[in-house]
Amino acid sequence: MADIARLEVNSEVYEFPTYIGTENEKAIDISKLRGNTNGVITIDPGYKNTGACLSGITFLEGEKGILRYRGYSIEELADKADFLEIAYLLIFGELPNQEQYDKFHSDIKKKSIVDEDVRKIIDAFPKTAHPMGVLSSLTSALTAFNPSSVNVDSEEDMYNSVVKILGKFPVLVAWTMRKKQGLPLDYGDSSLGYVENVLKMMFRQPNEEYVINPILSNALNKLLILHADHEQNCSTSTVRIVGSSHAGLFASLSAGISALWGPLHGGANQAVLEMLKDIQEDGGDTAKYMAKAKDKNDPFRLMGFGHRVYKNFDPRATIIKVAADEVLADLGVDDPILAIAKGLEQEALNDPYFVDRKLYPNVDFYSGIIYRAMGIPTEMFTVMFALGRLPGWIAQWREMRLMKEPIGRPRQIYTGATLRTFVPVEKR
Ligand code: ACO
Repeated sequence: MADIARLEVNSEVYEFPTYIGTENEKAIDISKLRGNTNGVITIDPGYKNTGACLSGITFLEGEKGILRYRGYSIEELADKADFLEIAYLLIFGELPNQEQYDKFHSDIKKKSIVDEDVRKIIDAFPKTAHPMGVLSSLTSALTAFNPSSVNVDSEEDMYNSVVKILGKFPVLVAWTMRKKQGLPLDYGDSSLGYVENVLKMMFRQPNEEYVINPILSNALNKLLILHADHEQNCSTSTVRIVGSSHAGLFASLSAGISALWGPLHGGANQAVLEMLKDIQEDGGDTAKYMAKAKDKNDPFRLMGFGHRVYKNFDPRATIIKVAADEVLADLGVDDPILAIAKGLEQEALNDPYFVDRKLYPNVDFYSGIIYRAMGIPTEMFTVMFALGRLPGWIAQWREMRLMKEPIGRPRQIYTGATLRTFVPVEKR
């Protein structure tokens, strides 16, 4: 790509600088477009062609199914790493050495205690409340209990808020689930690893010892790593744009959780399971639902299929499919819902509608299956996604602030009524 891009508008030629990323991604810098052309802007609904920032965190190439965190392939990280190492890598840029890792974990544990008054907020929610709404509210409420704003120019301040949220967030996740189930809210066991402790905090029964099942903790570790970052997706862009107004970290994260909730984003893992249950209750006729998904007059979509950027395969789905098979075999789960999932997967992979549109199972098609086998309630699936995505959101927020990005403020092309005169109500 040339260093300069030229654009002709009304017979006038304008020149724009270009960018080439370290992985040869190309972009035209249009930041001066409006000023230089006297008001011309670009329009790109859904931002399919818009680079909102320069970022050194995650590289993904949808066409080739590549996903890397800070240069390391997702396949290698999911196979060899621990979720806290990945959190450190994403946020601070390098894998921690043993000393850095131990300090990071110890600081997170020290900061994990949540103000007792948070229990009163949880008590005020009806049991029917969706856990994502509760989690978003509780994360926002942390701002009230930790009012001092982060001085982003102080490395120490930044580090402290990172360990604080990494410590408290899993507690909020576990309490959100336990409250719904009527179980006492407590802290796990700080002698455990981060992921093991999440399991204990979620599943410990008040009257029995909780024994860690390594199959479950390995599967959860993998799932959290696979969800840890995905560059400028809907929730991450939300975190960055909210943070760009210099709203604090917890407030920005709370907004990201709300964005993740939607069924076209993180809510897809819950939507997948609900769809599978509906198909089962309707007699298990997968062909009928395949036909509905292809019918343009029917709003039904096959949840867990398709992805905005992965147009060949979702590398996370490939990894998690193997983990799902292992977990189900190891736990000896025999679930009719899973037979429906496998049936749909096979039909879709061989159906020209799905093949032509490059619609493949995404990570959420399989993650819901593992969460169900682990005994996590369906409504909690997207909360588990949020727990995994937390380091990515923090890393992107931190990068945005350190790069001193301007406040996010897109423009529009107005298509409404032109100037008209107000008509009093009695004359309308
Ligand atoms: N079922 C049936 N048809 C589909 C599906 C689906 N799941 N996904 C896309 N299509 C069709 C569309 O109808 C469209 O068909 P057309 O070209 O004949 O009009 C074509 O495939 C392209 O679809 P778009 O919506 O333009 O694709 P886009 O990239 O905008 O959307 C999305 C991606 C939102 C993920 C979409 O595939 C979808 O809704 N999938 C189901 C929800 C889901 O699983 N979301 C999770 C995403 S992963 C994540 O957030 C971690």
